[in-house]
Amino acid sequence: MKYDIVVVGSGIAGMRAAIEAKELGANVALITKSSPSANNSFMAKGGINAAFGNMGDDDNIFEHSKETFKSSVGLGNDEAIRTFCEQAPAAVRDLETYGVKFSRLDSGKLAQRPFGGSKFKRTVYAADETGPAIMKALYKTIKEYEIDIIKNHMAINLVSKNNIISGVTLLDEVTQKVVVCEGKSVILASGGFASLYKNYTSNVRDATGDAIAMGLRAGLKAMNLEFVQFHPTGLEGTNFLLSEAARAEGGRLVDENGEFFVDELNTRDFVTRAIFKEMQKGKKVYLDLRSVPQEILDTKLVGIKKRVKALKKIDVSKELIPVSPIAHYTMGGIETDAIGRTSMEGLFIVGEAGDNGVNGANRLGGNSLSQGAVFGKISAYEAIKFSNKVKKFNGVDYYDIMKDIELVESARKLTKSIDVNEARNKIGYILFKKLGIVRNGVIISRALDNFEDMEKNIQKEELEKTTSIKNILELQNALLVAKAISRSALNREESRGSHFRIDYPETDRKFEKNTLIGIEEL
Ligand code: FUM
Repeated sequence: MKYDIVVVGSGIAGMRAAIEAKELGANVALITKSSPSANNSFMAKGGINAAFGNMGDDDNIFEHSKETFKSSVGLGNDEAIRTFCEQAPAAVRDLETYGVKFSRLDSGKLAQRPFGGSKFKRTVYAADETGPAIMKALYKTIKEYEIDIIKNHMAINLVSKNNIISGVTLLDEVTQKVVVCEGKSVILASGGFASLYKNYTSNVRDATGDAIAMGLRAGLKAMNLEFVQFHPTGLEGTNFLLSEAARAEGGRLVDENGEFFVDELNTRDFVTRAIFKEMQKGKKVYLDLRSVPQEILDTKLVGIKKRVKALKKIDVSKELIPVSPIAHYTMGGIETDAIGRTSMEGLFIVGEAGDNGVNGANRLGGNSLSQGAVFGKISAYEAIKFSNKVKKFNGVDYYDIMKDIELVESARKLTKSIDVNEARNKIGYILFKKLGIVRNGVIISRALDNFEDMEKNIQKEELEKTTSIKNILELQNALLVAKAISRSALNREESRGSHFRIDYPETDRKFEKNTLIGIEEL
């Protein structure tokens, strides 16, 4: 397989990149680990931020930049934030041209709702189904453009020569063989790693940090992996996210005595910690939608209303909804510059897979879909610029491919001896308990020991379970990334944004810098 541009990942950043590259005349492949709808963009229901100022509150690009930077707690990259906020309105307009139907005001303008951490109503939405509305329209466009979609192929490793990208190796899930997909440029947009918090996450199962593991193995640096965003309102005991849309439309957070205890539209790290504190006292926390007008429940929050009924038999217009925070988004990723260029020529990383500094220590709710749309589009321009410059394929050193064939063969041998599901449950539990909402150094060190032991013992387990090669490769990636998160969290001896350490509860100017981790430290 040979393409001008190879895009790995079918979320908003990946699809947007593939569409733009195709419009610019490139021959494009869109690779996805399972199906094109198995991604977190599809799960992002609440909305997409762009400073249109449609709600009479004088919102503008400057205010969007200021609030995005404030939320980053000093770590935001000015250039990335400025680029993002300036281009977000055009990115939303682009989505409309691909057929996305956003909710509108009577005036015909795009409707916008308030999300946490902002003084403005900035979040454009399609009821409480924004992600699906966007992703269905993009997928339709991908098909109309006849972009090659390579489904059920997991990216194993980056292939490069002389620090120039050559392509990626893939595991074909059907044949269980290694294949090479060569590209003049490669755009990695395969998401973050919050699904490693298994049983405590809103993420789809595929978000296992594969791009971060691939980047680390290729000698790139991972940045700020300690910053994991916990969304305040997971539906208790499930992975269903009660979107911030619910609070934007008037939902309140109450304790078990019906008392308000937090400004529910503060930033997510703040609200999450307030809930955590209540739970530490043994109290339960609820989302209260009872005073939200029925008409809003039936139009703007209809997805939530139906899902809560289906999962918990709760009538949201009459009963309280029990909530608990869940891992939702990962701010860190492979280090890139402000627009997704990496230190490997021809390799671009966007969305949660990379870190261009746009979120720093904490992302504002509603910014992720627009970041995917903005930086996905930009990465296509950059990738084409690079492909046009090099003109030829860089070529593949077959020694690299042999290494991956051997890796897959050794994984094949493990498929009968490892209970991957159990191992993933264990990783999820350790991450949530030891690298969760509140952390401390001694406990993080224990997590690191746990992950190192798991890595050593992986070959020794003798359980009568069979699994797939893909699951084994994912597990290997998961353990590498889990170690990297632990190391990054240990290195940051302070509290900032989503990273809160009780042994270092203050924000320390000394740490107003990015944490970088390389494979040699793991
Ligand atoms: O609550 C939500 O709808 C999540 C949105 C986001 O993470 O941006």
